Amino acid sequence: LKKAGVELVIFSEVEPDPPIELIEKAGKLYKETGCDGIIGFGGGSSLDTAKTVGLRVSHGGHLREYEGIVGGSGKIKPIFPPTVLIPTTSGTGSEVNPCAVLTDKERDLKFILMSNHFIPKLAVIDPLITSTMPPSLTVESGIDALAHCVEGYVSLATPYHPYYETMAVYGVKLIGRSLARAYRNGEDIEARTDMCMAAMCGGLAFLKGLGVGHAITHTLGAHYHLPHGRAAMFGLMSFVKINRDKCREPFKDLAFLLNRSEDMVTALKGLYADLEINLSLKALGIPREDLKKIAFFASRDAVNMATDPTTPSEKMIEAVLAEMYD
Ligand SMILES: [Fe+2]
Repeated sequence: LKKAGVELVIFSEVEPDPPIELIEKAGKLYKETGCDGIIGFGGGSSLDTAKTVGLRVSHGGHLREYEGIVGGSGKIKPIFPPTVLIPTTSGTGSEVNPCAVLTDKERDLKFILMSNHFIPKLAVIDPLITSTMPPSLTVESGIDALAHCVEGYVSLATPYHPYYETMAVYGVKLIGRSLARAYRNGEDIEARTDMCMAAMCGGLAFLKGLGVGHAITHTLGAHYHLPHGRAAMFGLMSFVKINRDKCREPFKDLAFLLNRSEDMVTALKGLYADLEINLSLKALGIPREDLKKIAFFASRDAVNMATDPTTPSEKMIEAVLAEMYD
């Protein structure tokens, strides 16, 4: 950009699960330095920051007013500055979808902003950029992409949607083919390319909806400050166990595509073993007494719970969490 004579202002203070205050700060810098466009470069939090700074600098009022669940999407107008997104991880899918997640410290929760105007003018998806991602982040972001595909595929938010379902199915196929390869050898560009595509598939598939998996993922993220992908490992395993009966048939298809298994619980256990995932809440320092609390907060995630095929009770969630404790 410098070579092309484009002046740059770099904002490098992005933190995971960007809070409202951070967006306000970046928005202020944008205005004070006379910027006229935004490039988001990084993982999901950097991309969501870029998207919401676009909202901040073009719309008045408090960012909370634009929250999807309170009808804020209708207030978001097509007046964003031009935005380019360049992902450096393969998981969030934020680079191609109309959502952004922010943290509201005052309300102690994460909230979702949603509008087609968040979709960037351009997404530059280059597998070479992701080749330096460490193995742990490769796994965590890859599992998040898988969770988006699996939860989206059977979510009740939009029960029938051939396009999103296609994205989900193809994403699972790519992850089955390439996540373990990318984990073992980060410079395997074919595998990295598949994972870049899988993240996009997941980012579109979850527009069909999510379920109890992401309710648990968000709870673990918000209360124990786990990175979203690490929390998603627990969320996704919970999701396939809880929905094992209700989603027997669709899960058969996904399990076959993932690693030729008969059902999703077996498929996921096999994948986690390949990826050397230690599925222990205890190892994360979470006290056993907290399982009840996690189940309580997860079941209060109204958006994701209402669209889960099983809509489990708190007791059921707690029982599944207990299976992943030690
Ligand atoms: Fe996610």
